[in-house]
Amino acid sequence: MKVDVILGLQWGDEGKGKIVDVFTPRYDIIARFQGGPNAGHTIIFGGKKFVLHTIPSGIFHRKTQNVIGNGVIIDPLILFREIDKLRESGMEPSENLLVSKRAHLILPTHRLLDAALESEKGDSKIGSTLKGIGPTYTDKYGRSGLRVGNIFDPGFGASYDRLKAEHLEVTRHLGFDHSVHLLDTMPFEVYETKWFEAIDRMKELKIIDSEIFLNKSLDEGKSVLAEGAQGTMLDVDFGSYPFVTSSNTITSGVCSGLGVSPHRIGKVYGVFKAYCTRVGSGPFPTELDDSDGEKMRVGGNEFGSTTGRPRRCGWLDLPALRYSIMLNGVDSLVMMKSDVLNDFRSIRICTRYQCKNKITDSFPFELNDENLKPVYREMKGWDSSLEKCEKVSDIPEAMADYISFIEKEVGLPVDILSIGPDRLQTLER
Ligand code: GDP
Ligand code: IMO
Ligand code: MG
Repeated sequence: MKVDVILGLQWGDEGKGKIVDVFTPRYDIIARFQGGPNAGHTIIFGGKKFVLHTIPSGIFHRKTQNVIGNGVIIDPLILFREIDKLRESGMEPSENLLVSKRAHLILPTHRLLDAALESEKGDSKIGSTLKGIGPTYTDKYGRSGLRVGNIFDPGFGASYDRLKAEHLEVTRHLGFDHSVHLLDTMPFEVYETKWFEAIDRMKELKIIDSEIFLNKSLDEGKSVLAEGAQGTMLDVDFGSYPFVTSSNTITSGVCSGLGVSPHRIGKVYGVFKAYCTRVGSGPFPTELDDSDGEKMRVGGNEFGSTTGRPRRCGWLDLPALRYSIMLNGVDSLVMMKSDVLNDFRSIRICTRYQCKNKITDSFPFELNDENLKPVYREMKGWDSSLEKCEKVSDIPEAMADYISFIEKEVGLPVDILSIGPDRLQTLER
């Protein structure tokens, strides 16, 4: 068997969590392969809403195993907040949750460093979620990080103290006073105490060699779905650098983040919104600063699932989408939040960029070149509700035209349409 992949083609928050949840009954195993609690994946069913940050979105199906892979970074305190929330709703996530020994730990001082480095950047700050993502991956690649498997070591406390001292040396050097900085409304020492309590609780979870478990499961004919976090435009290599996250969010990240060979990659589903959003700083060619952008923000409830920050909104960007499709080897497209465009008389779609006097459809090295301007095509909006659509053939003609245009421009079929946040508001072609 192969590993199928669901990942985001834009700047994150495309609706990956919803689609992974919808697909879960078809798979034996769902696995997160990168990122950490910077992710916020929303799942809505039965009138209930859940936002997952670290736990894979397949957790609501008891028969499916959910793996937090080696490429993910974990803040144990945030992980247990999620576990406890699920328990309050009558679930027992520890039954079908498996955690890689090789996943790295986000220390409280990684979060301090994130805050210190962001404030140091001033106006050029990334707009990080401040969950410690950049500093934790920096330590991973700098070969000084702590991994989940280390929590059983007798020397874990001493290793923690050594790394913490290194981090505090940097924050001191940056003039950052950690004694006044709150972590999730808590003073540092309180957060640290709770963090260690969560480390102790982690010892009761199923901590495994996830790369061996996954490869063995595939050999035995089990089906695996990899769940991406963030989006292709936030990929550390190909996104709008430096305004990116610190991991490979693209299909190649599945191989290193789960320990599976490229031969084992199966079908890749690329998820995109019918428009575009971005949260945090960085270039966004099709961004709207007008009432249309505001209409998307309000209609789409475009406020960050992790930080609550308003998301920047704009028209669909086809050059960026084509680039993402190429990088990920996408086989099938999933278009989300079509309903958010219901009230638009006309819809714009960026087909090319104009750079200086040249029109181009290729994705540039610097997306924030001030000479870069989107070239738009205007299309008729459907200007009607999708509430009564039960199958794809029910969608309004103007919406079918919008989709056909996208399919023609990017050369791939849009096989799944999401027309509302609930699990059931999903149409498959
Ligand atoms: P993720 O990070 O990719 O999983 O996406 P988020 O959960 O951060 O953001 C997607 C938001 O859109 C969530 O609030 C979802 O409940 C919501 N959503 C998902 N699909 C649809 C849809 O088709 N229509 C509408 N209106 N909302 C949707
Ligand atoms: P999901 O999985 C949207 C953005 C942040 C910031 C940049 C770097 O829910 O789609 P980081 O905390 O990683 O150092 O932040 O990346 N970002 C996201 N934006 N969705 C996400 O995840 C994101 N994770 C990080 O806003 O601009
Ligand atoms: Mg999100």
